[in-house]
Amino acid sequence: MKPLMLKDITKKYGDTVVVNNFTADINRSELITIVGPSGCGKTTTLRMIAGFIDPTYGQISLGDRDLVNKKTKKFIEPENREIGMVFQSYAVWPHMDVFKNVSYPLKIRKVNKKELTEKTRRVLKLVHLEKYEKSYVHELSGGQQQRVALARALVMEPDLLLLDEPLSNLDAALRETMRAEIKEIQRKLEVTIINVTHDQTEAMTMSDRVIVMNQGNIVQIGTPEEIYNYPENAFVAKFIGSSNILNCKLLEKEEGRMKIEVLGTSFYVPEKDTNQETGLVSIRPHHVSVSEDSGLDATIVRRLYQGDRIEYYLEVHGETVRIITDTDNDFQIDDEIKIKINKGVWLDE
Ligand SMILES: Nc1ncnc2c1ncn2[C@@H]1O[C@H](COP(=O)(O)OP(=O)(O)OP(=O)(O)O)[C@@H](O)[C@H]1O
Ligand SMILES: [Mg+2]
Repeated sequence: MKPLMLKDITKKYGDTVVVNNFTADINRSELITIVGPSGCGKTTTLRMIAGFIDPTYGQISLGDRDLVNKKTKKFIEPENREIGMVFQSYAVWPHMDVFKNVSYPLKIRKVNKKELTEKTRRVLKLVHLEKYEKSYVHELSGGQQQRVALARALVMEPDLLLLDEPLSNLDAALRETMRAEIKEIQRKLEVTIINVTHDQTEAMTMSDRVIVMNQGNIVQIGTPEEIYNYPENAFVAKFIGSSNILNCKLLEKEEGRMKIEVLGTSFYVPEKDTNQETGLVSIRPHHVSVSEDSGLDATIVRRLYQGDRIEYYLEVHGETVRIITDTDNDFQIDDEIKIKINKGVWLDE
């Protein structure tokens, strides 16, 4: 398996830039998820890697081979890139049986019959469809059809597998099973996978690293833990998990931490390389606790019971703060309580 290098890939339609200087190095056998709101450029990025869209600028290479390089005018056709892709609309052929759907890429490459049968059966087994070889695709459930699309992308033993929201049409339970199956396939075949989604849970649970995009730009790349615990800006903090984003003031820097003022009180956050005096702080709802004795004065303005926990909207020092607590803390609207902020992250404005 080969590493993938994406350098300054940009796509413009007329004057509109839909993907802007996308740069990332993707390791062998890594599972990377690109996550971001609708229209941020995820599909366009994948299609440039696959070769269905020609970038306006930039360079993409797989191992030591350039797939596209705008400077040297190199462009390798999609069918010669050794990349498997499962599309957003997974595009299987309903009038063909499962075996024919999956073996199609081998057939057009004139692979001999014995090898074609062996390879097709191996990948059908991998996606747990060996019993459905002869079924027509229209007789299958949505989840089974998505597995047919996945098997068809895998049958060529690609160096790189691109998945464009392949789980979006599935119910929650099936989506979870498929996530685990895709992880298992990645491990077994050691294939590099780029997965696209706007589902943040999917991004967090499946990926070695996550790329967060907004309006054509990469806003952060990191492991799920890095992205969640150290969001670089308010967009990431709100898009990955939920967060209170509040104005704050930097009071002083000491070794490894910074004292900030927020909601009329002060507390410490991890040190950040900033030269701003005011900024924003991201505070996760479960990083605020209800305090018995001392703390910030807060009034309950909204109560959302969720079975295993309760979410409250509080008014604190003229601001709205969301918190999540266990069900022992059962308050009603207008109750006055005290809270403590346990953790937060500084964000530059
Ligand atoms: N052929 C085209 N001509 C002009 N604009 C386009 C074209 N294709 C895509 N766009 C625009 O580029 C932007 C990015 O589209 P893209 O399909 O990459 O988004 P996405 O992140 O995959 O969104 P979604 O989550 O909805 O699938 C959108 O604003 C879209 O309207
Ligand atoms: Mg898309």
